[in-house]
This record gives sequence, structure tokens and C-alpha cells, in this order.
Amino acid sequence: MNRNDYEYRVSAAGRVNLIGEHIDYCGGKVMPCALSLKSTVCVRPNGTNTIRLAWTDLPDKITLDIAHLGEYRHLRHAKYHAGCAYLWQQAGHPIVGCDMLLDCTVPFGSGLSSSAAIEVSAISALALMAGEHPDPVEVALVAQRAEREYAGVNCGIMDQYASACGRAGHAMLLDCKTLACEYVPVNTGDYALIILNSNKPHNLVESRYNERRAETEIALGLLQSRLHVSCLAEVTSAELEKNKDLMTDVVYRRAKHVVEECERVRLAAKAMKEGTMSEFGRLLSASHASLSSLYEVTGFELDSLAAAAQAHPACAGSRMTGAGFGGCTVSLVQKDGVTDFKNYVLSRYRRETGYDAICYEAEIADGIVIEKI
Ligand code: GLA
Repeated sequence: MNRNDYEYRVSAAGRVNLIGEHIDYCGGKVMPCALSLKSTVCVRPNGTNTIRLAWTDLPDKITLDIAHLGEYRHLRHAKYHAGCAYLWQQAGHPIVGCDMLLDCTVPFGSGLSSSAAIEVSAISALALMAGEHPDPVEVALVAQRAEREYAGVNCGIMDQYASACGRAGHAMLLDCKTLACEYVPVNTGDYALIILNSNKPHNLVESRYNERRAETEIALGLLQSRLHVSCLAEVTSAELEKNKDLMTDVVYRRAKHVVEECERVRLAAKAMKEGTMSEFGRLLSASHASLSSLYEVTGFELDSLAAAAQAHPACAGSRMTGAGFGGCTVSLVQKDGVTDFKNYVLSRYRRETGYDAICYEAEIADGIVIEKI
């Protein structure tokens, strides 16, 4: 099947979150960037009542019946497309029979949001087939519902928003409570952002993610018995300390991460605007330490990878990015030291863990891109 036989080529971005981890579902601000690693859908109408899916790198061919879109939760890859079509339909949009050829350069299970990229590109393609020009924010919200209600991960809005609304060369300072988004130019001067994949196979990410989210909800419920707050991100450090007695140690430590990470995001946005990269890097490393010891979503491999990066003289700071439990780190590294940094970090990490990390060459790119073929 030739890609030129299709009507549109639609892509949506993977993302790297610079800082503000496990904050979106607590109503705080996060700072992701969309990446040139992306999910692409070539799409054309097929005149049937079905959506036919084919992949560039998988032998599978799947046909989804538009009248029964709610019934494909068991499918391994196609559940994302079925879920998106189903929830887009539930949101009141027409779904038209079409063929989709799917390609994804966002590595799976890497913490760079392959699923959000797949969802956002799929919904955008479906909207185009029905003659609609999709609104990126609505696409992001429906994609998030598909992830939660169909794929079963109780995620926040960060990934889908970044995938849909990203802008080349910019980070998004996204307020996850209001969805107000400020685009901050990523001017890292003499430094480069380096993304390394720990290649640690994920396990139980979904259930452990949902568990963390539940713990923050417990913390909020307890604090609300004394404080007038609508989300954990509104709680100050002083308020948290004063009300520590309400919580078990574990719940307190989860809340402490959230409260302090929100403050780091504020400082990181300021540092990025002022171009103080040493301060930005310090905040990245502090974020990792908190995700490791308070939020407990790193694990031996991510801790080893971040520690190796932080130990290199050219590195201003390094942290895990995404949900954790495996996946990637992001590091801020002096451009003229990047080669030496990679050699040092990759060999030390292999020695310590037995895994080979991979470095991605990615630009900060636009979110949804639509081309007529
Ligand atoms: C995953 C979720 C996001 C966010 C991050 C952690 O990527 O999909 O909503 O919660 O984890 O910051």
C-alpha cells in the first residue's frame, strides 16, 4: 500500500516533560515540550462502516466496526484507536469509515508519551475524515478520556495536551487546573537537552501510577478537613507541615513531593526565562531526588542513570521524565561536553545495571501537524 494513496498525513508529537512530574493530576503547573519523535497517520475515506487499521511495522490488520466501537478494549495496539473513535463519537462527533496507515517513532514504554501521540493523531485523522478541522485542546481532552476510560490509565492532561498543542522551540508552562498555557522559548544557550532511555522494561506501570494518584487523592481529602483548597497544588509547604499529623508517613511524603515540585516548576520557568541554566539544572536534579525518595517512582536503573549524568562535569542537572518506573531521563549538558558525557554515562550505566541506554536526537517540535497528500 502506497502512502501516496491517502488523503491526509496527520502527525502528533511525543513529549519530554522538563519539570513538574506527577503534578498534572494534582492541579499544578507542568513544563513539557513536544518532540520531533511522533505518531503519524495516513488516512483516506473507505466508503464503509468500518475503520481499517494497518501498521508500517506490524503485520496486524484490524477492522473496527463503527457501530460497536465500545467493544475493543481487549486489543493490544488497536485499543487506542478504538477508544479514541469511541470517545470522539461519544463527544458528539461523526465518525466516517476510513483506512489508516499507522507509524510511530516515539519509542514505546519510554516515558515519552507514545500513547498520547497515537491517540491525538488518531482523533485528528478521524475528525478530518468527517470534514471537521479539529480543535487541538478538544482533541487533547478526548484523547485523555480515551486513555482513562478505555485504556485504563487514570492519567492527567499533560501528555495529550503537549502532543496536541506543542510549539517548535518552546516549552509549555501548562496550568493543569485551568488549562491556561504560556509558551516559554527554550533558550538553553551553551547547553543541550539530552534524552536517554534507560531501556529498563516497564512493569506494572499502570497499576503503580494509579496507586500514586490515589495516594495524592487521600492526602487532599485529609487536608481538606482543615484547609480550603481544591487541589494539592494549592497547598503551601507551611500548611503541609502544620497538618502533617493528619497523614500516614507515606501519604505525607507523596504530598510533600507535590507541594515542593510545584515550587520547583515556578523557579524553573523563571530560570528558563532568565537563561540561568545552572539554576535550571539544579532544579532538575532536585526533582529527581524527590521522585526517588518521596514519590518513589524511579527504581534502581533510573537512579543509576540520573546519578551517572549528574556526576559528569558538563552536566548541570538530570532527572527522570514521565511516569517513571523505567523510561527516560532528561539532562542539561554543556554542548561542547556532550560526546564525553554520553560516553561516560552510557558506560557507567551499563556497568552498574547491565542495560544499554539509548540517546535520542530529537528537536522540540509542533504538536499536531496536518498535511494534505
Ligand atoms: C504520565 C501521565 C501524565 C503525568 C505523568 C507524570 O505520563 O500520562 O498525565 O501524570 O505520567 O508527570
